[in-house]
Amino acid sequence: MTRILVTGGAGYIGSTATAILCDRGYEVVVFDDLSTGHSDSVDARATLAIGSLLDPDALRSAAAGCQAVIHFAGKSLVGESVEKPDLYRHVNIDGSQNLLDAMKIHGIDRLVFSSSAATYGQPLDNPITEESVATPTNPYGASKLSVDNLIAASGISAISLRYFNVAGSHQGSNGWLSERHDPETHLIPNVLKSSVENPLKIFGTDWETKDGTCIRDYVHVVDLIEAHILALKNLTPHQHQIINLGSGSGYSVREVISAAEKVLGRTVPAVESPRREGDPATLVASIKKAKSILNWQPERNLEAMISDTAKSQVR
Ligand code: UFG
Repeated sequence: MTRILVTGGAGYIGSTATAILCDRGYEVVVFDDLSTGHSDSVDARATLAIGSLLDPDALRSAAAGCQAVIHFAGKSLVGESVEKPDLYRHVNIDGSQNLLDAMKIHGIDRLVFSSSAATYGQPLDNPITEESVATPTNPYGASKLSVDNLIAASGISAISLRYFNVAGSHQGSNGWLSERHDPETHLIPNVLKSSVENPLKIFGTDWETKDGTCIRDYVHVVDLIEAHILALKNLTPHQHQIINLGSGSGYSVREVISAAEKVLGRTVPAVESPRREGDPATLVASIKKAKSILNWQPERNLEAMISDTAKSQVR
């Protein structure tokens, strides 16, 4: 049985991966410092090793006996990264180097890394392919790009998966594994929380898009994890590959609100607000490479992402 080290396995995406890997018969060791993750999100079949990426000894002992690593751990908020760039460099880049060192010590040669569309910055063209220039516009994106480069230089067999907008939720054996951010910044959870007293703020209605609101490419977290499992099975020896994960189509903020109104059967109160600093108008992934290399394609649509997120919020 393959034993996999899942760093960040107590977070939203990592805990979903852990639950699905356990269902598929993998043995999972979760490594998480619980700074933003939750121990009750970790599937009971997995082993939880509490420790930081900045602690090489803790990493080395968690990695012992593992044959592969899926690396989700890290700081992941764009806004926070602008305020604390050193923290993002330290945790994301130095921490990932520590992980690569631990893998080397144990002779572990298989890695799937959670990279981000934020590596591309303001794209010149959409859809964004893996060949698009990577010019990140914030320290979060820059840290993910640096880790992609560290992995490429390490010579291990690896795939960096560049996520676009991850949404939806998975019902694990310990309940729905939801986004539990405080404060929540992501669109779909905020759409679901909106009320007459606290309406959703639409950040900008004067963008150069079909209805003036930003366009993003949303992908269901369960589809996303499926791609990670396929990535583990499709590594090329000693090569690093970059693969985008999205749906291949974009929805505007207003389209997400309309879809939510349909799913929920009620109005979503929303107010037009100024643009949010740093937002690009449109981000849509080209997913041709994921289709050809991983034989992957997303199966869950925007309505499923919204209804699963809604179910997960009744926790
Ligand atoms: N938005 C609103 N109101 C809200 C929240 C979001 O109008 O309350 C808008 C945003 O302006 C944006 C869209 O909804 O146009 C999506 O915003 P999110 O915050 O949900 O997601 P982002 O596109 O900003 O960020 C995502 C990931 C990041 C990643 C980034 C890559 O969450 O981790 O894509 O560009 F870095």
